[in-house]
Amino acid sequence: MADTNPLSNCRLAFVGCGVMAEAIIAGLLRKQLVGPEQIVGSHPREPRREEMHVKYGIEMFESNRDAVVDTAPEGPDDSSIIVLAVKPQRLRHVLEELKGSLVKEQLVVSVVAGATIESMAEELLHASIVRTMPNTPSQIGEGITAWTASTSVNENQESQVRAMLEALGKAVRVENERQIDMATALSATGPTYIFLVMEALIDAGVHMGFSRHVAQELVHQMMLGSVLFARESHKHPAELRNMVTSPGGTSAEAIYQMEKGSLRTVLSKAVWAAYQKAELLGRKK
Ligand SMILES: NC(=O)c1ccc[n+]([C@@H]2O[C@H](COP(=O)([O-])OP(=O)(O)OC[C@H]3O[C@@H](n4cnc5c(N)ncnc54)[C@H](OP(=O)(O)O)[C@@H]3O)[C@@H](O)[C@H]2O)c1
Repeated sequence: MADTNPLSNCRLAFVGCGVMAEAIIAGLLRKQLVGPEQIVGSHPREPRREEMHVKYGIEMFESNRDAVVDTAPEGPDDSSIIVLAVKPQRLRHVLEELKGSLVKEQLVVSVVAGATIESMAEELLHASIVRTMPNTPSQIGEGITAWTASTSVNENQESQVRAMLEALGKAVRVENERQIDMATALSATGPTYIFLVMEALIDAGVHMGFSRHVAQELVHQMMLGSVLFARESHKHPAELRNMVTSPGGTSAEAIYQMEKGSLRTVLSKAVWAAYQKAELLGRKK
C-alpha cells in the first residue's frame, strides 16, 4: 500500500451493515485502500454478522458501541472513522447508544438521508462530522456522492473521506447542507428518474413490436453510450441533440411531441419537488 494512502493508519467502524455500508466496505477492499483488519462492523442480526465476516474477513460486533470503542485511536499516528449507515428512522436510537463512546479524534461520517450535522453533533456530543449523500450506482462503484463537513474536520480527515467515498465512484465536496438537499434531489434521487425514462422507452419498444429482451438491450446501451458520448465530447446537450436532428426527420418529430408534453417542465418540477421534500424531511428530524 502506497504511503500517500490517507487511510493507511485508519481504522473504520461501520454502524449498521446493510446495502450502503457493504458497498463502501467492498469498494475500500477492492481498491486496497485498507485491509480487512482495519475494518469492523456492527449489526443486530447474527446471520448478517456471520455473512459479513465470511465475505470480507472483517470483525463484527453485536453492539454498535463496542465497534466504535474498538476502533478508537491508540497513538498519535492512528485515526478512526465511524460510518453511520442505518436507516433514518433508526438513527436517533443509534445516536443515543453511541453518546459518550467517541473520542475527540474520531471522525463520524453519516450516509443517513436527512440527518443534519447539527442534530447529530448535538445528540452525540461530538464535533467532527461529515454528512454524505451517495446514490444507488455506488453499489457497483459507479456512484456519485455529495459531501460536506463540520468546521472541526481537519484536512487529513477530509482527504480520508474523499478517498473513502471515491471507493464508491466519484465524490464532490459541496459548500453546505442546503447543497446536500439539492444533491439529494438531483443525483441521489436521480437514478429513479432515469429508471422511469428507461422503463418508458423499453415499453415503447415493446409497443412497436420488439421483444422485451431486445428492447431492453437497445435502450440500455443507447443510454449508456449517450452519457459516455456527452461526457467525452464536452459539448452542450442541446448541441449534441442538434447534431442528430435533421430537418423534417425522426428526431424533430419526437422532440416536438416531448416539448408538447412538457417533458422539460415535468423533470424540472420533479427535481424541485424532491428538493423541497428533502428540506422538509431534514427539518422534521
Ligand atoms: N442504498 C442506497 O442507495 C442509499 C443511497 C443514499 C443514502 N442511503 C442512506 O444509507 C443509509 C443506509 O441505507 P441502506 O440502503 O444501506 O439500508 P439497509 O440496507 O437497510 O441498511 C441498514 C442496516 O442497518 C441495520 N440496523 C437496523 N437497526 C440497527 C441498529 N440499531 N444498529 C445497527 N444496525 C441496525 C439493518 O438491519 P436489518 O436488515 O435487520 O433491518 C440494515 O442491515 C440510509 O440512511 C439511507 O438513507 C442509501
